[in-house]
Amino acid sequence: MKFFLDTADPREIAKLAETGLVDGVTTNPSLAAKTGLDYVEALQEICKTVKGPVSAEVLATDTDGMIKEGKRFAKIAKNIAIKVPMTWDGMKACRVLSGENLMVNVTLCFSAVQALVAAKAGATFISPFIGRLDDAGQDGLTLIREIRAIYDNFDYQTQILAASIRSVPHVRDSAIAGADVATIPSDIFQKMISHPLTDKGLAAFIADAKKAGVRIRDE
Ligand code: G3P
Repeated sequence: MKFFLDTADPREIAKLAETGLVDGVTTNPSLAAKTGLDYVEALQEICKTVKGPVSAEVLATDTDGMIKEGKRFAKIAKNIAIKVPMTWDGMKACRVLSGENLMVNVTLCFSAVQALVAAKAGATFISPFIGRLDDAGQDGLTLIREIRAIYDNFDYQTQILAASIRSVPHVRDSAIAGADVATIPSDIFQKMISHPLTDKGLAAFIADAKKAGVRIRDE
C-alpha cells in the first residue's frame, strides 16, 4: 500500500518524508487555508521534497476553469496530480486532462457508482472519503470494498485512494479492503507505529544489555 500525507504544510511533509515512507501528498483548499501560505508556493515546496504524486485541487467549478487551473498546477512539477470534484464538469475535465497524460485525482467520492464513472473518465486516483461517510452514519470501508470489486471486475487501473482517514484502524481496514493508497493526516501517520508493548519491550532489551554489559564492538 502507498502512504500519502494528507496535509498542505511543506515543513510537516519535509519532516515526515525523512522516514523514506512517504509516497505522495494530497492537499485541498481547506488544508491549504490552514497553512496560511500561498497555495502554489506551498505546492512548489512540497514537490521539491516528495517525488511521488502531489494532489493539487482546482477551485473552479466549470470544466474550462478546471482545465485551466489544472494545467497551471501541472506546470509546477511533473508529479502534480490535478484534483477535480466528482461532478459532471469535473468528469469532463478529468477526461481532457487524463487524455493529455496528466494525473487526475477525483475527489469527494461517496458512492461506488461515482467511482465507476470516475474510472471511465480516466481518473488516476479516486478518493472515497471514508471518515465523512462514517460521520454521516454510513460505512466508509464498505465503499472501499465495493469500489475494489467493481474495479477488479473490469480491470480498471484507477487507484483507490482512501481519504478522510481519522484513525490508525482506518489505515489498517483500508489496506484489508484493498485500497491502493491511504492518504494520512500527519498526526495519524506518526501514531501508526506506536504500541505500548513495543516501548516496554525495547526498554527491557536495553536494560538487560546494560546490566549484563553486552556490547557491539566496532570492527
Ligand atoms: O483527503 C481528503 C481529506 O482531507 C478530507 O478529510 O478529515 O476533512 O474529512 P476530512
